[in-house]
Amino acid sequence: MDERTFERSGQHASVIGLGTWQLGADWGDVDDKQALAVLEAAAESGVTFFDTADVYGDGRSEQTIASFVSGRPDLHVLIATKMGRRVEQIPENYVLDNFRAWTDRSRRNLGVDRLDLVQLHCPPTAVYSRDEVFDALDTLVEEERVAAYGVSVETCAEALAAIARPNVASVQIILNPFRMKPLREVVPAAREAGVGIIARVPLASGLLSGKYTKDTVFPENDHRTFNRHGEAFDQGETFSGVDYATGVEAAAEFAALAPEGYTPAQLALRWIAGLPGVTTVIPGARSPEQARANAVAARLPELSRQTLDAIDDLYARRIRDHVESRW
Ligand SMILES: NC(=O)c1ccc[n+]([C@@H]2O[C@H](COP(=O)([O-])OP(=O)(O)OC[C@H]3O[C@@H](n4cnc5c(N)ncnc54)[C@H](OP(=O)(O)O)[C@@H]3O)[C@@H](O)[C@H]2O)c1
Repeated sequence: MDERTFERSGQHASVIGLGTWQLGADWGDVDDKQALAVLEAAAESGVTFFDTADVYGDGRSEQTIASFVSGRPDLHVLIATKMGRRVEQIPENYVLDNFRAWTDRSRRNLGVDRLDLVQLHCPPTAVYSRDEVFDALDTLVEEERVAAYGVSVETCAEALAAIARPNVASVQIILNPFRMKPLREVVPAAREAGVGIIARVPLASGLLSGKYTKDTVFPENDHRTFNRHGEAFDQGETFSGVDYATGVEAAAEFAALAPEGYTPAQLALRWIAGLPGVTTVIPGARSPEQARANAVAARLPELSRQTLDAIDDLYARRIRDHVESRW
């Protein structure tokens, strides 16, 4: 699979990566055997970028990745983790001592001396304007606890603030055919500055696969049940913040745009991967079949002008007004 480079850190990632929130918690039950099979399927398909977080299953996702890579010394995978959501979300918590403790825990969980890439995990907006936060992150690099750092953001304004910080290597942001706002300013600014873009929630939590109906019921321990209206964390993280009924209708229209040989999910992933400035796209997979199908999207032919225009038109008609002013 093609790899792209995070210019500021010189690190590489496959254009389709793997999100591993599912291997921790919050997506119904995924047992250890299934989690390892997902990682195996992704790696075999050429995926060289795993995204995780200290909070996914409170370390379970990181530990599963560690157990997967430990038996494979020839495997070269860039592992990006995140920190900052195991404590209260207040700016005062984003200090060097906490960063050291949080990265120590992730280093233990992942079984490494130095983390490849650590991302602030959607910190409060005020954090982006504090110089001392970024000085502390620089210290983590100097202390060789982390090779590079980035941020996972909620809003476009936060992304632009992060890109303006000289040593931020990556910005992780929700970007998919139902979340196009980052294309206007954020992706061009990141490209110009050499900051990598990690496109998360690329399937709008699965909506863009076109497989759900208005009657679909998700498990109780799945955020698609318990965070529909932002009850547990930012509403944008569930179905990209699109109201479920609106999303199901728009997804049916999106699915009909899939060219022959593409599933709707692959159409979404291919569309994102084709955007100049995107470094890697990180679909979450709950099964090896999903992981393999998602990796295939990297090899599908470029989309036609007609398909691209139809996706833009669908977004403008059905989605834009629901999400643009909020994130
Ligand atoms: N704040 C943050 O930093 C943050 C927040 C959210 C996510 N993330 C990261 O981004 C990653 C991706 O986002 P996400 O997992 O939330 O959402 P996503 O990738 O948009 O959706 C994942 C869901 O899509 C469905 N799916 C996946 N592959 C499929 C395929 N080939 N065909 C049909 N359906 C498929 C599965 O749904 P079913 O379970 O219904 O099969 C899967 O659970 C996460 O794993 C995590 O690493 C980060």
